Amino acid sequence: MLQKYQALKQARAALLQDGIRDPFAVTFDSIISPTEARLDGQVVTLFGSNNYLGLTLDPSCQQYAAEALAREGTGTSGSRIANGTYSAHTALEAQIARYLGRRDAMLFTTGYQANLGMLSALAGRDDDLLLDADGHASIYDGARLCAAQVTRFRHNDPDDLYRRLKHLSGRPGQKLIVVEGIYSMLGDVAPLREIAAVKRETGAYLLVDEAHSLGVLGAHGRGLAELAGVEADVDYVLGTFSKSLGSIGGFCAADDPDFGLLRVASRAYMFTASLPPAIVASVSRALCVIEERPALRGVLRDHAARLHAGLIKAGFALGAEAASPIVSIRMPDPGTAGLFWNRMLDAGFYVNLALPPATPSSQSLLRMSVTAAHTSAQIDAVVSGAAAIARDFGSLQQAAE
Ligand SMILES: Cc1ncc(COP(=O)(O)O)c(C=O)c1O
Repeated sequence: MLQKYQALKQARAALLQDGIRDPFAVTFDSIISPTEARLDGQVVTLFGSNNYLGLTLDPSCQQYAAEALAREGTGTSGSRIANGTYSAHTALEAQIARYLGRRDAMLFTTGYQANLGMLSALAGRDDDLLLDADGHASIYDGARLCAAQVTRFRHNDPDDLYRRLKHLSGRPGQKLIVVEGIYSMLGDVAPLREIAAVKRETGAYLLVDEAHSLGVLGAHGRGLAELAGVEADVDYVLGTFSKSLGSIGGFCAADDPDFGLLRVASRAYMFTASLPPAIVASVSRALCVIEERPALRGVLRDHAARLHAGLIKAGFALGAEAASPIVSIRMPDPGTAGLFWNRMLDAGFYVNLALPPATPSSQSLLRMSVTAAHTSAQIDAVVSGAAAIARDFGSLQQAAE
């Protein structure tokens, strides 16, 4: 059965030659803080986590989770439509809807399932899905689950989107555009104002996956749509709890009065167990922290700018021109990227290795992410660590281009 994965096996063997550590099999011995862990006995600084506000170890989130765990148990053992809805689930949905200024919200058990469940239920046989070419795997997997026609448009290119929508204008069904706030691999931001203008002109619907931008962008942390001032143009706001909210789960919020119908139409909502009470409680508390502590977003922005500027100054070619909490260094090829990743780990820095086909335009990337919990000293240290390794590779430019 696994014969079809021979090419994958060879690619992995090539990456792992010369005894380098397997970047896709890292197991931390223990977690020390939101920015540090122990790995094979060595303390490493974490620069790969999406724990943007550092809330995974927030004492109040932990306390809420612990109390819910003691009160309601370890799991619900049921789906939302069969004994898996507790009052905390519906309260969290109401809290999310209120926070985002929407009529309704639905929880999903992961962010991945939120995309599967929403796209597959929204887009029917006659409809068209228009997906940004760099969209997350969960968006493309959601598209695979529905009978709609799928059209990819060039990444962050509203003109290309417009042309393709015009081309499809004779078709009978609805058109749904799907974009992200901050893109997970390169850390670049969608031109959402322009995309919203295209949506208005063509009469399409718009879903924005704010996975990496919720709690990060906008005066209240509501995401890119808030920052860009186009919340009214967004029909479906999708997000995950696994990043700035420091836990696991996903949601979608909308104003459509019939939105609730999806609770009995979305298979990824109906046919999986609901979120455990401890998760619901910690996410609910984390959402309050986002509202109560806007300064965390300012710290995060400063840290993102410091990491981005430091790596540019060191001569690296980065994935995005502007700073965001995701900063990716472009590597010349998978082999160099794998070696560089190992050297970073030896130097005490954990970053993400991102290789084709999981990356945009088949690039090899060292993906770094920064959080509000990092210190300036940690950020400066990872920049000089990366610069020193690049110098060892012979030429900084060679490693960076
Ligand atoms: C844009 C985007 N959407 C959805 C997801 C899936 O979220 P989760 O990992 O919480 O299931 C991710 C995960 O990284 C993502 O980057």
